[in-house]
Amino acid sequence: MMERKKVLVTGAAGYIGAHTVVELFNSGYEPVMIDNFSKSDKTLLSGIRAITGKDFKFYEGDCNDNIFLENVLSQERELSCILHFAAFKSVGESVAQPLMYYKNNVGSLITLLEVMKKFNQNKLIFSSSCTVYGQPDSIPVNESAPFKRAESPYGATKQMCERILEDVVGNGFKIISLRYFNPIGAHPSAQLGELPVGAPNNLVPYITQTAAKVRNKLTVFGNDYNTPDGSCIRDFIHVVDLAVAHVRAMEFLDRAQSPTLLETFNLGTGVGVSVLELVNEFKKVTNVEVPFTIGPRRPGDVEKVYGDPTKANKLLDWKTKYSIQDSLLHAWQWEKKIRGI
Ligand code: UD1
Repeated sequence: MMERKKVLVTGAAGYIGAHTVVELFNSGYEPVMIDNFSKSDKTLLSGIRAITGKDFKFYEGDCNDNIFLENVLSQERELSCILHFAAFKSVGESVAQPLMYYKNNVGSLITLLEVMKKFNQNKLIFSSSCTVYGQPDSIPVNESAPFKRAESPYGATKQMCERILEDVVGNGFKIISLRYFNPIGAHPSAQLGELPVGAPNNLVPYITQTAAKVRNKLTVFGNDYNTPDGSCIRDFIHVVDLAVAHVRAMEFLDRAQSPTLLETFNLGTGVGVSVLELVNEFKKVTNVEVPFTIGPRRPGDVEKVYGDPTKANKLLDWKTKYSIQDSLLHAWQWEKKIRGI
């Protein structure tokens, strides 16, 4: 029987963490999970169990807490890799509460790296974001584009974290930083998906909640951008495609001969889709109306950004499999399931 490789997943009860845990199980890994439920609850953990039929080891705690992490790493000695998803991700909240964002997102990475060093764990996959680019000079943007000033404290935390990774890598770490574009969709089984706390900030959960009549109407933030239909353009990637890329990234780290390594990869589709196009596609795919109105631009929004995924396609042997239509359909199936529609 194939030996199961144990991996530690922080933020495992969150949207991307939970989908990745399922793909880890599918690929023969044994995920050990951490979450403090600050922005999540146990719902997605039940979804993981329902899809995989597997039980798992779970530690409830905060990655800013050295003692907690030391306790976990002292019990889980044979980890082949650590995947660090745990972080806050709301752009608007980060503007209102910047210190909370810096402390949580930057602090937890520092704590994790300290504890990894102490326990001789050196392989890390870090959840970064396309937000590190700001508004890039040319799109599709590739990994060598310079960082523009971050539009929000949230974006600044991801830039700072990447800088920290650059500075520590020489201390014996093997690190991959994955720059996510806009993850959307849900598990095709409808057992896992996005569970925003309160009114959603992100576009697709707002669309699905409006379709489910939980919200009256969607506001499209701006139709006077310099884009074909005037709305912003993003690179929407199915969350399962994103999850699979983490497994490939771990395999890349395992193959790598060099004792220290830091690589960054864009995880996107390479295709830009506008906000209005996405709303129209949703109607086409689901046959459900999404009433919307055009509102003012949202402060901090980048006009258009989509990623060049060539590096990940080649070096990670990874490509997206799901279409925008799949993503929207799966997001809707998940919304219907949680609303009992
Ligand atoms: C942002 C961050 C991204 C981060 C993500 C997590 C940037 C450039 N991107 O993505 O790094 O990981 O948040 O939360 O900072 N929109 C509407 N109406 C709505 C909601 C959104 O029109 O009700 C529009 C936005 O103006 C934007 C697009 O939809 O143009 C996507 O917005 P959203 O889903 O919030 O993601 P980003 O802001 O692109």
